Amino acid sequence: MQDVGSSSIVSRSDWSIPDGVTYLNHGSFGPTPRVVQAAREEWSRRLSADPMGFFLRELDGALNTAAARLGKWIGADPRDLVFVDNATVGMNVVAQSLKLEAGDEVLLNDHEYGAVFRIWRAACDRVGAKIVSPAIGTGDDSQPRRFHDVSEIVQPIANAITSRTKLIVISHVTSPTAMVFPVEEICRIARSRGIPVCIDGPHAIAMRPLNLQKLECDFYCASLHKWLSAPLGSGFLYVRRKWQQGLKPHLTSWGRSLGGCPPRWQDDLNWLGTRDPAPFLAVPAAIDFLERTGVEEFRQQTHALTQYTRGRLEQILGQTATIPNSIDWYASMIAVPLPPDSNKKSRPNAIHPLQQELWNQHQIEILVTECHGHRYLRVSCHLYNSAAEIDQLCVAMQKWLEDSTEGH
Ligand SMILES: Cc1ncc(COP(=O)(O)O)c(C=O)c1O
Repeated sequence: MQDVGSSSIVSRSDWSIPDGVTYLNHGSFGPTPRVVQAAREEWSRRLSADPMGFFLRELDGALNTAAARLGKWIGADPRDLVFVDNATVGMNVVAQSLKLEAGDEVLLNDHEYGAVFRIWRAACDRVGAKIVSPAIGTGDDSQPRRFHDVSEIVQPIANAITSRTKLIVISHVTSPTAMVFPVEEICRIARSRGIPVCIDGPHAIAMRPLNLQKLECDFYCASLHKWLSAPLGSGFLYVRRKWQQGLKPHLTSWGRSLGGCPPRWQDDLNWLGTRDPAPFLAVPAAIDFLERTGVEEFRQQTHALTQYTRGRLEQILGQTATIPNSIDWYASMIAVPLPPDSNKKSRPNAIHPLQQELWNQHQIEILVTECHGHRYLRVSCHLYNSAAEIDQLCVAMQKWLEDSTEGH
């Protein structure tokens, strides 16, 4: 076992992951560190003790303070941010707000997140607009698509732009293949063609450097429960100034601050009826927690462990990862193709048998993903993970491969 993934000043005991569980799926749902749980509980306690005082006199200021801290951290003016429950809500708000007409096109490459496709398909269907979905990468789908150069992502997207393109939607880090997309380059091209860009960024927060002022996208949707380890139920939507007044909420409520503050574009989303905003208000606690290690150290350490994982899995599975071995292409999460036998169709919605076995036999939480008919083992490495856990995964994978061969 190598000494990777273990030099941080935070450790597994800073989380409350149950004993015996090897948690390798921070990318889907990140466990919340104890101090962040405590911060959230304290905000909930204050709300529960005095809801009138909290909603009328405390909430506006507390949201401003939390947005200021987040904005500083992601290079955004807090006046351009609003807290939302998660990236899905943010994307729905954008889809609700963009004025589409029959024949308009929304450009989503064919590696985008399934729920995001559904959101835009529904928005397009309402008015007779259409989704344009260019294939990216090299190869046909008899093998997992491979990537060698960013042009294999950028060019198909650029080539698919037409005079009817109303928006480009692109992940910052993809879900099924854990791949970092060149969003800076996509934004630059889109700007030169006068097309707005909406970035689907839940995996990128903390995992990737982010400066929204420099990036100059039009919308950025994120969940903060993933790599930042903020509470579940916290996310944000960034909206460039020119779009803010036209923004339509996914739910309609009062559309104003209960505390009597002057109107602003966030009002519709800040008050969605009576609810507990504690997850948003505890976001600064998650930033503080990560800064105890240092965000650069976090990135280096989690990438080192992910790189180790990649090498070990490639060896055991006899498969090569589909992207170059560089931090520009993957950071704290890697997806390695499973052997072709694993691609057999299972019942729709069923959890892949390998994922089930890793949980049932080894208490390993992990994700088997699917992209264009191919299965991948996607491993997430956060600060609480260690090389010993990756070695444990490899032993389990070796056994699974042996059992699968015997079963033939
Ligand atoms: C690329 C991508 N977009 C959007 C989402 C949706 O995130 P959430 O469920 O937090 O809204 C996910 C979730 O994993 C994702 O991976």
